[in-house]
Parts: sequence; structure tokens; C-alpha cells
Amino acid sequence: MSHHTAAKLSRSIISRLGTRGFSVNISETTQTFARLRPAFAIRNLSTSVSPNGSPKDEKNNSISSDKSQNDKIIPSYWGVAPAKLTKEDGSAWKWNCFRPWETYTADVSIHVTKHHKPENFRDKFAYWTVQALKYPTHLFFQRRHMCHAMLLETVAAVPGMVGGMLLHCKSLRRFEHSGGWIKALLEEAENERMHLMTFIDLAKPAWYERALVFAVQGVFFNAYFLAYLASPKLAHRIVGYLEEEAVISYSEFLKDLDNGSFENVPAPAIAIDYWRLPPDSTLRDVVVVIRADETHHRDLNHYASDIQCQGHELKDAPAPIGYH
Ligand SMILES: [Fe+2]
Ligand SMILES: [Fe+2]
Repeated sequence: MSHHTAAKLSRSIISRLGTRGFSVNISETTQTFARLRPAFAIRNLSTSVSPNGSPKDEKNNSISSDKSQNDKIIPSYWGVAPAKLTKEDGSAWKWNCFRPWETYTADVSIHVTKHHKPENFRDKFAYWTVQALKYPTHLFFQRRHMCHAMLLETVAAVPGMVGGMLLHCKSLRRFEHSGGWIKALLEEAENERMHLMTFIDLAKPAWYERALVFAVQGVFFNAYFLAYLASPKLAHRIVGYLEEEAVISYSEFLKDLDNGSFENVPAPAIAIDYWRLPPDSTLRDVVVVIRADETHHRDLNHYASDIQCQGHELKDAPAPIGYH
């Protein structure tokens, strides 16, 4: 092939590729989100918010955006203005840590006092491990609920991430699907972290509490990592019992809010947007939805343990996605 022919051929290929071969095209990214959106539809059907306004405008905006974006090459995300998101009332969306399609209304009808009766040695070991951890924690915090909740969430957000990460690696190693469990566990971790983000709006941790979190995270992360490697069914059972205790802690918190020994302050803005609460919601409303989340975590982890105790792998039973 002559030099002239090769140059002609490459010009032809470049003109067919357009901008797509050279940069991240934002319109493609938008379309990708549009394709992913149905995954969130289960909890957010009525709330999809377009980058520039109401859901009605979404299609038109997408088309005009495609046209204008195709005219120029975007060399990096430094040159891309963040999408303008709005709430249903038209006001600007102020959070970068989560987006409108990640918000949801908690299912507070779930069974709050459910308890998995320990039946075998593994269950009893998991149960008594959690009970042994519970007493010093209660002694330390007593009825300082805000502090207790804040530090509890720093621990509670670890297992989902560790389990999700290990299942992710397993899926890669074995060239197999996960049954949705990676997503379910990462979703749980993210939800727990949002609980923490809510509480730090209401209470600022003291230096010694930060030091405590630092130390506890170092120990707990590694201990849970090893436990999950050794026995995922035991690890999930332990988390199931931890979540049972979290539900009990939040019920105690609610009792003190109801009897007036803890001030029922207005709900933080982040909580109102994340759980789609009414604007005049209070801390009590927030604790109710957080407790509902914990009940889902409890059931998800006991379910994960049950599946494996019955001799199956997690991937054999579809994960309950869309619950927190
Ligand atoms: Fe939590
Ligand atoms: Fe939880």
C-alpha cells in the first residue's frame, strides 16, 4: 500500500469515527446513564430528574445536548461543566455525594423485632460474639444516642464493602457471575455511609472519638476480611446479628426522642433529600427510616448466610437488589 493510499484510508476512518475515537463524549455518558436508569426504577420511578429540568424535557435536552457535544472534542473532564440537576420543586440539587436517582422512600413496614434464633454452633458463635461486643459498647455510650449512632455507622459501613470486594475478586477469579450480590453488598455499604453522613450533620465527633474510630476500623476491617475469607456464612451471620443490635439501638433512640429526654431537632437537609422526606421532618423521622434500612441489612445478611448454610453459593440465589 502506497503512502498516499494509506493516508487516504486513515482520513476516511477518522471522518467515520468523528469525535468518538479520541475523547470521552459526554453525550455517550448521558446515554449510558439513560440505559442504566431502569435499574433504579424500582425505587425511583416517579423521581427521575433530567439534567436541565423536568422529566418531560429529558428527551429534548438529550437530543440537543448530543448535537452540540458532537460539534466539539472534550479533551478531559476538566472542561466539562457538571450537569445541572434539579429537585421536583425546581430548586437546584445541592449534593454531589448522591444524585436524585439514588434517593428512595424507605419501607418502614418491615418487621422490626425479628430475631434469627441461633440453631447451630456457627450461629451461636456469631450471636455470642456480637453480644460480647455489645456490652462494652453500651457501657461506653450509655444513652448518648447520637454519638453511639455515629460511631456504630463507621463500623456498619465496613462489612458490605469487604464482602462486595471479595465477591468481586471471586467473580473475576472464577469467570462467573455474582447473582447481583456484589451490587447488593456495595449498596449496603453506601447506605450505611449515608447514615453516617446524616449524623455528622447533627454531631461533630471529638478528637478521642475520631481516634477510637481510627483504631476500631483498623481492627474490624482486617478481622472481618479474614472472617469472610475463612467462612462467608459465618461473616454474614455476624453482620445479621450486628444489624439486629443496630435495630434495637435505634428503637431505644426513638424511645428517648418520644419521652423527651432527647431533643427532636429538625431533620438535616441531606436526610430529607436522601430519603425523600417532607421538608418539615424531624430527627425522629430520620431515625425511623434509618432503622428500616437496618432491618433490611439484617434480613439480607441472614439470608446470605442461610443460602450458604443450605449448601448453595450466593450466586445461585438472586440478590435482593434495591433494598438497603
Ligand atoms: Fe446504619
Ligand atoms: Fe445496617
